[in-house]
Amino acid sequence: MKKRVGILTSGGDCPGLNATIRGVAKALYERMGENVEIIGILNGYSGLINGEYRNMKREDFSGILTLGGTILGTKRTPYKQMRVIGEDEVDKVAAMKQNYKNLKLDCLLTLGGNGTHKNANLLSQEGLNIIALPKTIDNDIYGTDVTFGFHTAVDIATEVIDRIHTTAGSHSRVMCIEIMGNKAGWLTLYSGIAGGADIILLPELPYDIDRVCSAVEKRAKNGSNFSILAVAEGAMDCEEARMKRKEWMARRLKDGTGVTATNRIAAQIQKMTGAETRVCIPGHMQRGGSPSAYDRVLATQFGSYAAKLVEAEHYGVTVAMVNNHVTENKLEEIAGKSRNVPDSCDLLAVARRMGISLG
Ligand code: F6P
Repeated sequence: MKKRVGILTSGGDCPGLNATIRGVAKALYERMGENVEIIGILNGYSGLINGEYRNMKREDFSGILTLGGTILGTKRTPYKQMRVIGEDEVDKVAAMKQNYKNLKLDCLLTLGGNGTHKNANLLSQEGLNIIALPKTIDNDIYGTDVTFGFHTAVDIATEVIDRIHTTAGSHSRVMCIEIMGNKAGWLTLYSGIAGGADIILLPELPYDIDRVCSAVEKRAKNGSNFSILAVAEGAMDCEEARMKRKEWMARRLKDGTGVTATNRIAAQIQKMTGAETRVCIPGHMQRGGSPSAYDRVLATQFGSYAAKLVEAEHYGVTVAMVNNHVTENKLEEIAGKSRNVPDSCDLLAVARRMGISLG
């Protein structure tokens, strides 16, 4: 029987979205031939709410393996707002269900991170046939060992740290590099180790600025004329970790050291150690460009697995990698949870053994 398959990308983009879309499509055409029609929903859930879509053809999926971003467009549609009826008076959940019905979809594939998975679970519980795929440079989706986009971002952030090394050495400076990741420190931990950072600060491990400064001073005493800090966007000091967001934001503003952790840390190091410091924020560069070879393979594994799930009509799940094996998890079991760097993480022990300060 002919199947109509909807596909959307939601949340922050990352390298590997197009490779995954291609993996799904090629494997679907391979398995089902003329018995499948793919409908691209544009700009994430917003497109499903507003009925923005494109009937896709086979050729739309050619030449996109290496392409960054997403050919479908993406948007953040916060889960918290899904059931809230705003000024436009649109009931978003009802609109999504209606458009799914209008488009005569047999199922919908949603590519995204934690927020996307919460919305996917909501739609699944509303009776739609959903299959999700785990994307994010943060690598923080519960139930999968890895998400596509993560390893490319690690490569990019590592290159930034490599390049900062040479200028740090030339100028005898302390360089603080801000790596993306508000709640999860995987990207900072991996790129910090790959780039040989001296100090790595993660959201999961609140730091003590005195310990950070001691690590900088110890390096100077041992003859190193520079230090490199890999600081996660969401790093916090021990006091901040006990405060509400509003409180620490106010404290950072009052101190005049900037609202980002990295600016604050750099200013404090300069003041407390006398070392000249600079900040580098690669920002969205970490989400741009072509996926790495690793992510192309992972995207193709995940995409082709999702095609298998479509054919088997196995819905209400998200694709996952567990112990090097592609499998699926039930959406209801993973939605709303996240995967942070645990205290028991092997890489933390590796960092400590290498004399890297974790603050
Ligand atoms: O979730 C991926 C991510 O890149 C985070 O690491 C970062 O905190 C956030 O998105 C940035 O979001 P935006 O693209 O909306 O600025």
